[in-house]
Amino acid sequence: MSGDGNRRDYDGYARPGLDRSGQAEAFDAIGHRYDEAFPHKEGQFGAGAWLAAALPPGSRILDAGCGTGLPTARQLTDAGHHVVGVDLSPGMLELARGNVPKAEFHQADLADLRDGRLGVFDGVAAFFSLLMLPRAEIPHALRMLHGLLRPGGLLALSMVEADVDDYAIPFLGNTIRVSGYLRDELRQVVGEAGFEVAGENSLAYAPASTDVPPEIQLFLNLRRA
Ligand SMILES: C[S@@+](CC[C@H](N)C(=O)[O-])C[C@H]1O[C@@H](n2cnc3c(N)ncnc32)[C@H](O)[C@@H]1O
Repeated sequence: MSGDGNRRDYDGYARPGLDRSGQAEAFDAIGHRYDEAFPHKEGQFGAGAWLAAALPPGSRILDAGCGTGLPTARQLTDAGHHVVGVDLSPGMLELARGNVPKAEFHQADLADLRDGRLGVFDGVAAFFSLLMLPRAEIPHALRMLHGLLRPGGLLALSMVEADVDDYAIPFLGNTIRVSGYLRDELRQVVGEAGFEVAGENSLAYAPASTDVPPEIQLFLNLRRA
């Protein structure tokens, strides 16, 4: 798919170079404790409300790295949209299917969506999922999501503000690798991927578990330019 002008691709990023070791296993082990550790999701709920209201009812929305489906897949489904959730972790997907029976869920690596297997979307929610990728991959993932959106389509993106790349952190008794940007750099990265910023929010978040450090969450409401 590279070199054909389709911005959905991972052009220049080698699939064999993707290292997902331990990421799905960690979330399989974390399971429902994820929602217990992050009980208050006002920022995410606000960003989901923007996406839900900005699109006409019945829109097709991808929940990229959907986790347990809470709150986002359920929020978007309750608003009358058709939600397609994708996650690497079978354990998270099992919870999501129970939490949001009206949504459709698939086990897949985000990188594999570049083949267009799930079709075109009016909107995408990517809450705290692209931070699970190494920094070198994130621009490719954003361009791929751009290519999955119809012209004018919307992306609700959240990341943790941090200047780190593929950095191993303890997380609810497991180890995961995360990446992040400071906010100016994040705006630049999304702009270079072809998105314009329609709104943004940041908030300090203290998880309800000492196994997860406090964090600054960044929410960007983006439009496919
Ligand atoms: C921090 S959780 C966020 C879950 C959900 N979006 C939320 O906000 O509650 C990250 C999720 O991304 C999933 N994930 C990590 N790497 C992924 C990948 N390469 N492809 C698809 N999902 C991935 C994990 O299994 C996990 O469910």
